[in-house]
Amino acid sequence: MIKKNDELEVTISELTYAGLGFVKINEFPVFIYNALPDEKVKIKILKVLKKYAFARVLEFYSLSSDRNQDLDYSYLQTGLAPLSHLKYPAQLIFKQNQLKETLHKFGINENIEPIVASPESMHYRNKSQIPVRSVKGQLEVGFFRSHSHHLVPTEDFLLQEPIIDKNTILIRDILREEQIPPYDEENQSGVIRNIMFRYGKFSKELMLVLVVNKKKIPSISNLTAKIKARCPEITSFIINYNLKNTNVILGPKNQVIFGADYLTDKILENTFKISPLSFYQVNPLQTENLYKIAAKFGDLKETDIVMDAYSGIGTIGNTLANQVKQVIGVESIPEAVEDAKENAKINQHKNIRYDLGKAEEVIDKWIEEGIKVNKIFVDPPRKGLALNFIDQSVKMQPKMIIYVSCNPATLGRDLSLYQERGYQIKKIQPVDMFPQTAHIETIVLLQDAKS
Ligand SMILES: C[S@@+](CC[C@H](N)C(=O)[O-])C[C@H]1O[C@@H](n2cnc3c(N)ncnc32)[C@H](O)[C@@H]1O
Repeated sequence: MIKKNDELEVTISELTYAGLGFVKINEFPVFIYNALPDEKVKIKILKVLKKYAFARVLEFYSLSSDRNQDLDYSYLQTGLAPLSHLKYPAQLIFKQNQLKETLHKFGINENIEPIVASPESMHYRNKSQIPVRSVKGQLEVGFFRSHSHHLVPTEDFLLQEPIIDKNTILIRDILREEQIPPYDEENQSGVIRNIMFRYGKFSKELMLVLVVNKKKIPSISNLTAKIKARCPEITSFIINYNLKNTNVILGPKNQVIFGADYLTDKILENTFKISPLSFYQVNPLQTENLYKIAAKFGDLKETDIVMDAYSGIGTIGNTLANQVKQVIGVESIPEAVEDAKENAKINQHKNIRYDLGKAEEVIDKWIEEGIKVNKIFVDPPRKGLALNFIDQSVKMQPKMIIYVSCNPATLGRDLSLYQERGYQIKKIQPVDMFPQTAHIETIVLLQDAKS
């Protein structure tokens, strides 16, 4: 029997979905931080649970040729970049295999195209949500250690655009000078919870959102003056009020201190207005590739009537509107759907309609209205599609469904439901939107088997 503090020599057999090394010791599964397949290591058991244990490496006897050795291993403890100890080409192979295995569990064994690598594998993120806490009596920015709210201070966030890192540190220093207290979760005291940035890679606009825990912020006029003077790259500054004891980062109310209450950016020749609460893809260069592939799968024609379901700010619908007769979209976040409508106007697409609501409910209304679509694009969150959406979308008899997924498990489930309802999988294309993390994005083309 394995016990806490045992020291053992093992050879790692696998890498788990979450990026942990894995071995079975006398049939008992052990998950090991910072260990890659084939590495011979001495481990120390940290924690033994009923069905498995966790361990860390005490000593490496051999290193994997796939190991990225230029890494500060504290990133692995933060949950920020759980695959960053793997070289990027090996991450791509890992994701390709993960997708294959997951889909296989749902009986899906169709060919998977080679994953499209991200143009940038580090410092690609256009958005940050950095926690601010007190560490050893000083206001710090950093990342929470995995499964905890213990802040690990840092100045290099690894995945964010360098302009975001630079301005995060400038804001941290101004907050320190102004002695504005960081949020304290235990006592529900302090003021600054998070520093959020959004950056328009193409527009070069930089939006700062300070998430606060109080209705009134001390020294707000000094703070604003210093931000204007020392952070000229920041084009808008918004306070977001989150007064609740919650893990949800943003509260419902925003106040603009200066600049616009939205960011603008460009994707595939279209301009987009993005409100702080709206979803916006985080890897801008790869987003263009994602949408190009999705549009190509749709084999768009001037006569097509296309659905853009789970539309966010209308990025998919807007970028394909010129090629089709009509786009009808749905999105559940009010700010996002307002953005989507405005974006159709900004881009002068007169053939777009966006409705607010849950896709699985609005689709009933559309069917009652007699709306007909022949191609459906869906891009749901991690939980995938609701069963009613699947049933009703099939009722609309689209020739094609283009499924953009950020979760292979719910993708597999939904694809098999579409297969049972007469659709065939024609293409599966993974696209790496999230280098250094275990997230896998996939586009699938489904076609009505009768057409
Ligand atoms: C993965 S994002 C995709 C957004 C957009 N297609 C893009 O590429 O930017 C999923 C979107 O679905 C929205 N959403 C979540 N649940 C929904 C539902 N039940 N009905 C409609 N939209 C929903 C979210 O607010 C989010 O904007």
